[in-house]
Amino acid sequence: MPISAYTISSMGIPHFKKTPSTNVAEEDQQEKMDKECEELVLSLPKEKGWRTPYLYKFQGFWCQPKEIQAIISFQKHFQARATDVILATIPKSGTTWIKALVFATMNRQRFGISNCHPLLTSNPHDLVPFLEYKLYADNEIPDLSDLPNPRLFATHVPFASLQNSIKNNSDCLIVYLCRNPFDTFISSWHFINKVRSDSLPPLPLEEAFDMYCNGVVGFGPFWEHMLGYWKQSLERPKNVLFLKYDDMKKDIISHLMVLAKFLGLPFSVAEEKEGVIEEIAKLCSFDNLKDLEVNNSGKAIKNFENKHLFRKGEVGDWVNYLSPLMVERLSKVIEENFGASGLKF
Ligand code: A3P
Repeated sequence: MPISAYTISSMGIPHFKKTPSTNVAEEDQQEKMDKECEELVLSLPKEKGWRTPYLYKFQGFWCQPKEIQAIISFQKHFQARATDVILATIPKSGTTWIKALVFATMNRQRFGISNCHPLLTSNPHDLVPFLEYKLYADNEIPDLSDLPNPRLFATHVPFASLQNSIKNNSDCLIVYLCRNPFDTFISSWHFINKVRSDSLPPLPLEEAFDMYCNGVVGFGPFWEHMLGYWKQSLERPKNVLFLKYDDMKKDIISHLMVLAKFLGLPFSVAEEKEGVIEEIAKLCSFDNLKDLEVNNSGKAIKNFENKHLFRKGEVGDWVNYLSPLMVERLSKVIEENFGASGLKF
C-alpha cells in the first residue's frame, strides 16, 4: 500500500523526515526483512561487515541485508520522470555537501539566500531523501506522484543497479560526486566507529583498510562504483555530471557554475555580480553547516546521528593515519583498477 513519504513545510517544500518511533518493539519490527528477502540474503556470498556483522554481495556490490530489501523495492516500484535529478555517491564522499549544494542551487529563485533558508533549519538529508535509506526503507512503497517537479533524490546504489527508468531515461539528470579513495577510506573508518553497534568491538584501522583494499565496503568495490558513473559521464555527458570533492574544495565557485549549467539553471550575469554563487558556497560550506543546531542533534538518517556527518571536511587528512606500506598498497589498487580509465586522483 503506497504511503506518503513526506510532508510539505510551511515554506512549501517537501520535507522527508520520518516520525521517529517511540517504541523499541516498533523499531525492531522495522529492522525485519520479509521472508523472500531473507532467503535471498542467505544465498549470497558474505564477508565480515563494517557496521553490521556481515556485508552481502548483491548484484555485484557489497551491502547490508536491510539495504537489499530497500533496493529491491526501489528497483521494482520507482518510476523516473524526465525532470528528475538524482545525486549519486559512494558513502563518505561528500553526499551531505552535494545534497546541500544542489538543493540550494535549484531552489535559489524560491528562497534566495535568506536567513530563513530551509538548509538553516533542516539537515540536507531531510530535504534530499535517499531512495534506499529513506523512501524505500522499512518495507515502504512511497507515493511520490504528487511531488512537484523537478524531484530531487539521492542514492548510493551503483549505476548498473539503478532502476531501469533512471538508466534508460534520456532526460533525467545524474550528478555523481567522487572523492579520492584515501580520504574516503579514512572518513568511512572514523564514521563507522562512531555508529557501529554497541555489541561490536571497535573496527581497527588495519582491518578496515584490508577490507577496503579488497573491495569489501558498503556499495563497493569503490573502483567499480566510481568507474560505473565515470563511464556514463563520458558516454552521456548531458545526463551524467561527474564531480570530484577534492577539486570542489579547491574551487567551489567554478564547480557551482558547471553544476548550475548542467542542471539547466545557469547563473545569470546579474546573479554573478550580486554574489549569489559565493552565497550558496558559504551557505553549504562545512563550517556553516556543521555549527547549525539542526546538524548537531537528531537523526536525519536512521541509525546515524546528524552530528557524525560532519567531521573535518578536508582534503588529505589520510596522511595522519596511513603508514607508507598502506599508501603503497592502496596506490597499487588504484593504479590496477583505474589505470586505463582516465579517472585520476
Ligand atoms: P571527513 O570525515 O573527511 O571529515 P558523506 O556526506 O558522504 O557522509 O561524507 C562525509 C564527509 O564529508 C566527511 O568527511 C564530512 O566531514 C564531509 N562533509 C560534510 N559536510 C561537508 C561540507 N558541507 N563540505 C565539505 N565536506 C563536508
